[in-house]
Amino acid sequence: MDEALLLKGVEKTFRGHLSIGSHHVLRGVTLTVPRGLIYGFLGPNGAGKTTTLKIVTGLLFPDAGEVSILGQGLGDGSVRARIGFLPETPYFYDYLTGHELLTFMGRLLGIPSPRLVERIPVLLRAVGLLGKEKLQLRKYSKGMLQRIGLAQALLNDPDLVILDEPTSGLDPIGRREIRDLILELRAQGKTVFFSSHILADAEMICDQVAILIRGKVVQEGPLEDLLGGEIQFWDVTVRGAAGMVPPPGCSVLTRLGTQVLIRVDREEVLQDLIDRSRAEGASVRGVVPHKISLEDLFMSHVPGEGSR
Ligand SMILES: Nc1ncnc2c1ncn2[C@@H]1O[C@H](COP(=O)(O)OP(=O)(O)O)[C@@H](O)[C@H]1O
Ligand SMILES: [Mg+2]
Repeated sequence: MDEALLLKGVEKTFRGHLSIGSHHVLRGVTLTVPRGLIYGFLGPNGAGKTTTLKIVTGLLFPDAGEVSILGQGLGDGSVRARIGFLPETPYFYDYLTGHELLTFMGRLLGIPSPRLVERIPVLLRAVGLLGKEKLQLRKYSKGMLQRIGLAQALLNDPDLVILDEPTSGLDPIGRREIRDLILELRAQGKTVFFSSHILADAEMICDQVAILIRGKVVQEGPLEDLLGGEIQFWDVTVRGAAGMVPPPGCSVLTRLGTQVLIRVDREEVLQDLIDRSRAEGASVRGVVPHKISLEDLFMSHVPGEGSR
């Protein structure tokens, strides 16, 4: 069994009062998370990411479909002990200190006291909060709260770590800290499944991604397969070329004095353009290759403005 998580045709509808305004949120979510990888579950706000994570963590029941976690079905409660979960907006008792929170959560998980005494400092060190554990959570920054939340999710040394929007609301330093911690978890052999609408973060650390749009996975796979190594087009800046007619296959984007910005989508045409520019005494000032980004891929699936 190589999958950490498998979802097949998962459906969920939230029913309004007297069935008025029922909302079909998950429309057959299917995805496979291989073990030992960082898997990004991406989609715009309202796509159904949190609903899916709640089903996986047992907080909600699906209406239909199959879920297998570390090779076990949803009905098998014992698998919960091998999952760590950081909710989207974790509710912390903010009068507790970081240390008290971890102790409290550890007791709820049934971790024996001697084990907790050993484990808590290790986790505090791992998330960079050693020395801050006596501070009340109300004095923690957003980044510190996310890190103590991550420590809480790791208390039971889980094989599968599930994080809901772990980087949202953080500044660039906070986001990098969380990314580094996620990379560290993979290095320890854990599987990380996290949801995000922040594509730049996902692009930096994910091995695989799924893109969820309106309750359906529209694309799934290794990041490099989805993005491809291929260059989509080049933007070429040529100076001193006011009278030059670019070869066929080029499109002129802008002209400013004698400077022309030309877009080219084939390598032969690019070489042709460079040769012709030289022959006419113009100088090529810049050639910028563009690859498809996760953002482009994401936007190509998002109808209209991207959320409902
Ligand atoms: N308990 C609920 N009752 C009714 N609608 C809900 C409930 N939870 C979520 N929704 C709706 O389901 C949709 C998906 O929500 P969510 O799973 O939180 O999306 P995401 O995490 O991708 O932003 C949203 O339109 C949301 O309003
Ligand atoms: Mg969400």
